[in-house]
Amino acid sequence: MAGQETHTTSDKTGKIRRVLLLYYSFSGQTTGLLNNLAIGLKQEGVEVNFVKLRPIAPLRFPIGSIFATFRMMLATFFRLRITIKEPEACVWEDYDLIILAGPTWSYNPSGPILDLFDRFGPRLFKNKSVLPMISCRGYWRMHWHGLKGLLTKSGAKIPNRIIFSHPAPEPWRTLGVFLKIAGKAPERSKLIGRYYKRYGHSRQQLLAAEKMGVTIGSCLKHNRSLADLDLCPDIALP
Ligand SMILES: Cc1cc2nc3c(=O)[nH]c(=O)nc-3n(C[C@H](O)[C@H](O)[C@H](O)COP(=O)(O)O)c2cc1C
Repeated sequence: MAGQETHTTSDKTGKIRRVLLLYYSFSGQTTGLLNNLAIGLKQEGVEVNFVKLRPIAPLRFPIGSIFATFRMMLATFFRLRITIKEPEACVWEDYDLIILAGPTWSYNPSGPILDLFDRFGPRLFKNKSVLPMISCRGYWRMHWHGLKGLLTKSGAKIPNRIIFSHPAPEPWRTLGVFLKIAGKAPERSKLIGRYYKRYGHSRQQLLAAEKMGVTIGSCLKHNRSLADLDLCPDIALP
């Protein structure tokens, strides 16, 4: 169901700003970031609609075995599509901004997002302002370039990008993510747990997402461009 916010404020012209948070999340990391981003947006009086993409055959996190995790990583490297249900009707309404969010899967956008582009891309995004948000372990560049290409082909305007990587150090981050997806608990392992404390984004990153929501909401309210904002707080950009 779309979560609709009721406490809204408007700019001087009386127009309420509306943002669609259109997303997929497999292990809850994108959901966590978006929940915080939405808190910030709402503080600025922005009306927020959440729409999560729902695969027809639901995916279970964790996957449950090392072998099945390898298989999924390989399939997603070849841009496996995961067929989604028709998105909720509110995606076709008018928004000042669409935030399209989801995880990196083997250097690509996730399967549900790829299916969204295949079936609804131009209809959803043509002439719309779309801000992509990526949640990843750490390797987001190919994902970003692919996503930018898909959005451009669909006719979207891309004002900026939001990128969050897991803060854990390498090589433990890669190993930890793989084991976590497979259904293990690397943070509790005697060997790995010393270096890998937790899966996913940190508390500080969630707070950064909330602040980002305030900043984006304020820009929308005052008709300011999003282009000059630093929305990738924890990475060195090229
Ligand atoms: C099949 C699969 C492949 C992944 N491949 C990558 C990758 O290539 N690069 C990366 O940085 N993270 C990769 N990850 C990690 C996720 O992007 C990361 O855990 C993200 O925070 C998950 O977000 P979510 O919980 O919203 O699904 C992969 C995860 C899965 C399940």
